[in-house]
Amino acid sequence: MDLGISGKRAVVIGASQGLGFAAAKSLAQEGVELVLFARSAEKLTAARESLLEIPGAKVEFVTGDISKAEDVEKLKSYVEETGGMQILVLNTPPPPRPMVDFIQETDDQRWEDAYQLQLKGALLVLRKLAPLLIDHGWGRIVAITSASIKEPLPNHALSTVFRAGVQAALKHLAMELAQYNVTVNSVAPAVVVSETYRNFHKGVDERISRIPLKRPGTLEELGATVAFFASDLAGFITGENLQVDGGYTKALI
Ligand SMILES: NC(=O)c1ccc[n+]([C@@H]2O[C@H](COP(=O)([O-])OP(=O)(O)OC[C@H]3O[C@@H](n4cnc5c(N)ncnc54)[C@H](OP(=O)(O)O)[C@@H]3O)[C@@H](O)[C@H]2O)c1
Repeated sequence: MDLGISGKRAVVIGASQGLGFAAAKSLAQEGVELVLFARSAEKLTAARESLLEIPGAKVEFVTGDISKAEDVEKLKSYVEETGGMQILVLNTPPPPRPMVDFIQETDDQRWEDAYQLQLKGALLVLRKLAPLLIDHGWGRIVAITSASIKEPLPNHALSTVFRAGVQAALKHLAMELAQYNVTVNSVAPAVVVSETYRNFHKGVDERISRIPLKRPGTLEELGATVAFFASDLAGFITGENLQVDGGYTKALI
C-alpha cells in the first residue's frame, strides 16, 4: 500500500530511540524526509546512521530539550530555514520513575518534572511548530500518548494527569487546523517493547498479563500506526485517539 507521503518532511520529537525512533523509521520507509529531535547528539547520530540504511532516506537532527522554550524555538527556526515541514510526530519523554500511587506522590519536584516533560514540553512543540503546517494545504500531527488517557493505569498519576491536558490540546488543534487540511490524531500504547519500557512502572509483567492478546506491542506495530495517521489515506480522520494496546483498554469507545 502506498501511503502517499513520499517526499514530505517530518519532524519527530523524542526520536533517537523507542517509540519515536520506530515512528521515524516507518516514515522513512515511506520516503518521508526526517528531522529528528532529542537531547543526546550521540544517540541521535546513531539513530540517523541506522535510518540512513533505508534506501533513499534523508535524515537530519536538531538537539534540544522539549521542556526548554529556547530549544524548541531553535528547532522551529531550523525547520523554517530548511524547507518547512508537513508532518509532526509528538512523542513526549516518559514521566519520572519509578511510578508510584497518586497518594505516594508527595514530592513536589516530581510533579514539576512530570509537568515540564509531559505537558509543558508538548504545548511548546504544538504551539511553536503547528503553525508551520498550515502553509502547505496539507499537514499531519500525530501524537504518541498512553492508554492511560482512556483508562487511568495503576501507579500512573504523574503521566495521566498531564497527558489528559495534552489530549485536550490536540482536540482543540484538530478543530482549529481542519480548515487548513491539517489533521491531528494520537496513538495510545499500553506496553510496547522499547529500550526502557521495563523502567516505566511497577508490574509490567502484570500489565502484559491483562492484555487480551497476551503480549506487549512491537515497535513496528506502533510505528506503522503512526505512519498510517500521517498518511494521505488517513485524510478524513481527525481528533481521534487510537489505542494500540492489544485490547488492554476496556473503555467502550
Ligand atoms: N514503551 C511503552 O510501553 C509505553 C507505553 C505507554 C506510553 N509510553 C510513552 O511513550 C513515550 C516514549 O516511550 P519510549 O519507550 O520510546 O521512551 P524512551 O525509550 O525513554 O525514549 C524517549 C525518547 O525521547 C527522548 N527524550 C527524553 N527526554 C527528552 C527531553 N526532555 N527532550 C527531548 N527529547 C527527550 C529520548 O532521547 P534523549 O534522552 O537523548 O533526549 C528518546 O529519544 C513516553 O512518553 C512513554 O511514557 C510508552
